[in-house]
Amino acid sequence: MRTQVGIVGAGPAGLFLSHLLQREGIDSIIVENRSRQYVEERVRAGVLEQGTVDLMHRLGLGARLDQIGLVHHGIYLRFNGSTHHIDFADLAAGKGVTIYAQHEVVKDLTKARLDSGAPIYFEVANTSIHDFHGASTTSHAKIRFEENGDPRTLDCDFIAGCDGFHGICRPSVPAAALTVYDREYPFGWLGILAEAPPSSDELIYAYHERGFALLSMRSPQIGRLYIQCKPDEDIAHWPDAKIWQELQIRLAADKFTLTEGPILQKGITGMRSFVVEPMQFGKVFLAGDAAHIVPPTGAKGLNLAVADVQVLAHALVDFYKSGHRRLLDAYSATCLRRVWKVQRFSWWMTSMLHRFSHDNAFDHRRQLAELDYVTGSRSASQSLAENYVGLPLDL
Ligand code: FAD
Ligand code: PHB
Repeated sequence: MRTQVGIVGAGPAGLFLSHLLQREGIDSIIVENRSRQYVEERVRAGVLEQGTVDLMHRLGLGARLDQIGLVHHGIYLRFNGSTHHIDFADLAAGKGVTIYAQHEVVKDLTKARLDSGAPIYFEVANTSIHDFHGASTTSHAKIRFEENGDPRTLDCDFIAGCDGFHGICRPSVPAAALTVYDREYPFGWLGILAEAPPSSDELIYAYHERGFALLSMRSPQIGRLYIQCKPDEDIAHWPDAKIWQELQIRLAADKFTLTEGPILQKGITGMRSFVVEPMQFGKVFLAGDAAHIVPPTGAKGLNLAVADVQVLAHALVDFYKSGHRRLLDAYSATCLRRVWKVQRFSWWMTSMLHRFSHDNAFDHRRQLAELDYVTGSRSASQSLAENYVGLPLDL
């Protein structure tokens, strides 16, 4: 088999990249080790930046998003029992975010690609990448995998490593060529999906002395809520009643009622910040979680993956049109400038809103002062707002 760009992974990064290339007449093939049903049901992120929403529209994939996405023009920060609105309409030039689940994005992109006749190989096994060390496209890079037990080889000009944090592309690059920057946080998030109408019109980020809590949503009927927990917490120790009890305490405020309902799904996610540099080696380009992870407090993971592949698609289009490698060679540096700003924002939101085990009473007071400052100063809330709705993308 032969294609121009071989893509490993049918998550948001791989799928968006395939659509961006297809509309410019560049051929790609996606290989994915999970089933279509599995990737379309995997519950993950839920907040789309304006730029991600705009891209869905530009690709002609915004119909369901317009129907069921919930447009939000702000968020609430809650601490000391009082609630403060960060008004994006006022502070971020009218921009907003849209609540639309990552798996809905994945469904829309997968369907459009398969309907167009372009391939995605699901449930492949033993994916590996080869012959990608030199930058020249006179020789081909290869993706090897098994389809129903049969070995396949895909020859390609370039490989897009869109296979997430646990994928094979990043570890296939010689370790000496990469530098890793990372930080693990001493807590995780216990997240639930509940058949309970959201008790707020917009997301509530709550700082509480017992730990962080977040009220989010998926639809007018379904709530998505999180609480800070130990990173190695056993979900068996969290019966539904205990989760609601903790949410009631951490989200409590004057004139606020948290509506409870049956819990449909629950799980625990660890939190880390991670960046690998550079994001390219020879003919391999890493994008999305394969290259970086952010803690979810800034709601950036999915949006950052989408930003990377816009840079990559732009560079590949330029290469196929002009034969010049200038933008391809600049891919990593172009992405990393924005990646590090988003890392900073995600770390900052996480540090401001969580309790750290080594913190003392001084740190608690300092965090409250920071929240008081962020909600009280126009320039500080504006900084939060402009990062939350999404920093500009320089291609
Ligand atoms: P992924 O979505 O991980 O896609 C990578 C794809 O590659 C997957 O489909 C995988 O099956 C496939 N793959 C892996 N290895 C191979 C292989 N060897 N061969 C072929 N295919 C392979 N972000 C938020 O903003 N808010 C959240 O609440 C949130 N929750 C999250 C919960 C979890 C459990 C995780 C893991 C992430 C969460 N994120 C969240 C982050 C966000 O979902 C990711 O940033 C986003 O999915 C990145 O997209 P991606 O396409 O880069 O990677
Ligand atoms: C979500 O709805 O899953 C969500 C929202 C905001 C975040 C993280 C996750 O910061």
